[in-house]
Amino acid sequence: MSLFGYEGKKVVLTGGTTGVGAAAVELLAEAGCTDLTVLDIKEPTGPATRYIPTDMSDPASIDAAVAEIGSGVDVLFNNAGVAGVHATDFVVRVNYLGVRRLTQGILPGMPRGAAIVNTASIAGQGWPENLAKLLELMAISDWDEALQWLADNDELASVDVYGFSKQIAQVWTMYSSARSYKEFGVRTNSVCPGPIDTPLMDDFIKHMTEQVIQWTVDQSGGTMLTADDIARTLVMLGTDASIAMNGHNTVADNGFSASMTTGQIDFSGLG
Ligand SMILES: NC(=O)c1ccc[n+]([C@@H]2O[C@H](COP(=O)([O-])OP(=O)(O)OC[C@H]3O[C@@H](n4cnc5c(N)ncnc54)[C@H](O)[C@@H]3O)[C@@H](O)[C@H]2O)c1
Repeated sequence: MSLFGYEGKKVVLTGGTTGVGAAAVELLAEAGCTDLTVLDIKEPTGPATRYIPTDMSDPASIDAAVAEIGSGVDVLFNNAGVAGVHATDFVVRVNYLGVRRLTQGILPGMPRGAAIVNTASIAGQGWPENLAKLLELMAISDWDEALQWLADNDELASVDVYGFSKQIAQVWTMYSSARSYKEFGVRTNSVCPGPIDTPLMDDFIKHMTEQVIQWTVDQSGGTMLTADDIARTLVMLGTDASIAMNGHNTVADNGFSASMTTGQIDFSGLG
């Protein structure tokens, strides 16, 4: 058994064309993966063995991808995501409903010991205060009913839809992991990054401001995370080295959250 390797593993990755996903494509190839399928709206340029054009906001597109992928996926990376510059329902479709639909399509054909890794965010750390509502959402399996629930509870997403979608991602990781492990022996974890230098950063600056992003980076060592930094965490969580981890939201933020929890943050830079 190779602890860290991907030799012989069938891998699926969403959002593999730019940013974290593109870096993961490179790392997976280095780690011995020769069976990688990328689902994205844009064609990847990296060493992916297969590309299936897929729109993660569209259930029909996801279902078609699931049919094309077939069974036996050893590692599924749900990485595609959008920032809060789009309409609320679009953000939640890509960042949650699409993740859920793809996972539920692929999961029954995954072998025991397989792994699912979601890309969440520290922007979703506020989930405890909304847990009861988020569990209500988790209990809704139908795509349109979930969107109706979102419309009926629009106050939850009205201030920061991206943060809310990543609260959902963290709770979904815990909620689905318990079930998937008991039923299929498949474990599910997430990575929760701080700000990363990727093409998506422009959108984050638009809705969070440059000052807040820079302050977050300054409070965690002064260097922004790179796509490769976070891709390493993703790739690690998909290997057998993390076999005992299930339902874990893995913070990867250069210590920003640790500083926040232990009262070591200087808020003066926020003005
Ligand atoms: N950049 C950050 O600061 C940051 C911080 C925390 C978490 N994240 C998360 O990391 C993940 C990767 O983002 P990134 O920063 O690498 O950004 P990115 O924009 O570089 O990558 C996103 C990828 O998803 C694809 N994508 C976008 N919409 C899609 C759709 N509807 N269907 C299929 N594919 C789609 C894009 O084409 C791209 O390949 C996202 O889930 C994001 O929320 C990013």
